[in-house]
Amino acid sequence: MLKGKHIILGITGSIAAYKAAYLLRLLIKQGAEVQVVMTPAGKEFITPVTLSSLSGKPVVSEFFTANTGEWHSHVDLGLWADAMIIAPATASTIGKMAHGIADNMLVTTYLSCKAPVFVAPAMDLDMYAHPSTRHNLDLLRSYGNHIIEPATGELASHLTGKGRMEEPENIVAVLDRFFERKQSLAGKTVLVTAGPTYEKIDPVRFIGNYSSGKMGFALAEACAEAGAEVVLVAGPVALKTGHPSIRRIDVESAAEMYRAAVEAYDHADAAIMCAAVADYAPETVSDVKLKRSGEERVLRLKPNPDIAAELGHRKRAGQYLVGFALETNDEESNARSKMAKKNLDFIVLNSLRDAGAGFRCDTNKVTVIGREGKPVEIPCKLKTEVAVDIVDLLARCMNEGR
Ligand code: C5P
Repeated sequence: MLKGKHIILGITGSIAAYKAAYLLRLLIKQGAEVQVVMTPAGKEFITPVTLSSLSGKPVVSEFFTANTGEWHSHVDLGLWADAMIIAPATASTIGKMAHGIADNMLVTTYLSCKAPVFVAPAMDLDMYAHPSTRHNLDLLRSYGNHIIEPATGELASHLTGKGRMEEPENIVAVLDRFFERKQSLAGKTVLVTAGPTYEKIDPVRFIGNYSSGKMGFALAEACAEAGAEVVLVAGPVALKTGHPSIRRIDVESAAEMYRAAVEAYDHADAAIMCAAVADYAPETVSDVKLKRSGEERVLRLKPNPDIAAELGHRKRAGQYLVGFALETNDEESNARSKMAKKNLDFIVLNSLRDAGAGFRCDTNKVTVIGREGKPVEIPCKLKTEVAVDIVDLLARCMNEGR
């Protein structure tokens, strides 16, 4: 998967810098073209001569070449790259990346880089555990960077696996998996519904719910990252979409979402129904703002269409349908009966009982239940990460024709 890929390898001043030479050799062996960028401190740990002879390219570390005055364009480098890996990444470089302190070629290149960025931290365990480092790593995650943390290895048992740089083989495996994933939905069209719906009562009031749309938007992004064309039918949310493969259709009510989703599903290979659709809407919508009166008021509600069930009904051979279930009790059996009733291929269960799961937060903890096999538990992590796991499962089913 790495053959012909353009990779920037950023090396900083950590004792683990010697491992970067091995990482570079592995990347070159896989057929990647690698440009090394070093911080001044990085050069104290490993000589650029070793690295340039391995990569076959002069190492870049200053903005200008001292003797010729040639300018190194971080912008061109950022555009050239298919990926940037910073390994090892020190606490200092992580802090600079998190806060945009571009006082060296490496951080400047990072800021110009349009490609995905992978960061392999390496530092003493106390530094690693410091709230400042944790916070900066969280910031990098929130920018969409991939943090590669060691999970296993010789020091794992007493260092809880953190603090030391991930082994080069594993970093290469993460990259390989990333590029493989980029093609897992190539040529496919996926419909995603996201966010709440608003059901109008009068010109200024509505019935809504707490859905933020974050999970659905993360799913749309993950599908697009996997190479799919995405139609994102979004209820009223304050989120932005940036990926060029996402066509976004903004709707407000369940009825509007129904029309947009039914039309899009006709041309889609799969649909992920992540929206929190209102089950009922006011029977009549007042043209004028309802006035306060001393009296009790009754709001009559009519049922909304079940969009997922309708798509399940229309599903053709080879089309896939994924639903979500938010349950407060008898979770698994309720989710399974929903899957059957709506003719879903699998259902993603989140429980309101779990801390860090559900509405409005950035994390989620879900169980994916398929028609066959054991449920897959996805532990509590960022919604963006949960989305990648869900899309992986969907892509695997679609590619295996299950
Ligand atoms: O039946 P329940 O609302 O719990 O089912 C949840 C699943 O069905 C979610 O995937 C949700 O997006 C979808 N749904 C829908 N249209 C509705 C209600 C739910 O698409 N009117």
